[in-house]
Amino acid sequence: MTTLHPHPAIAAFIADVTAIEAEGIDRSTLARIGARLARLAGETALFSFENFPLATDPAVETAVHTVHVGDGGRLPLQVLSARHVPGAPRRAAHLPHQHPTWAAAACVRGATHDTLWLRTGDGDRLAAQPEVRLTPGTAFTMMMHDIHSVRGDAGGPAMHLLMYGRVFERAIVFDPDTWRAYEHRVPAIAA
Ligand SMILES: [Fe+2]
Repeated sequence: MTTLHPHPAIAAFIADVTAIEAEGIDRSTLARIGARLARLAGETALFSFENFPLATDPAVETAVHTVHVGDGGRLPLQVLSARHVPGAPRRAAHLPHQHPTWAAAACVRGATHDTLWLRTGDGDRLAAQPEVRLTPGTAFTMMMHDIHSVRGDAGGPAMHLLMYGRVFERAIVFDPDTWRAYEHRVPAIAA
């Protein structure tokens, strides 16, 4: 096990999620993982920008910090520190995409906007569901192969916790103009 920032709150969180996941992942257990992640995100003294800084280049929107990865790449926990940079290049996470594992996001501070996309017609097009504003105390969860997109908030810097079922290196991204799907390499597993 790799725990880059050992802390009792993180150890307790990983133990709780491990127990919930062992029940099997469905919408109900995933909602409980999301709620538990939101509770961890409430430890705002632990998750400071001093511990998990923004990208040093002010033109870069996000910095990803890995907090924990379990044996076999299980249950990676990351901190995403983000700022809004007007005119910044579009990132894969801004486009509808799907991860090859379940995922949960919770907000420490600031906000972000998540949209879930559902397949329509014969399944080759996507329809956006109402956007959700993710703020402290709330969580956004996705089953494996759910499709979502994320956009930053124009307010102050934001920090989110991201948890996945396992480490992954590729996500499937959908071009919103053509709905063509392509594989996107994800060097830091956050997408
Ligand atoms: Fe994502």
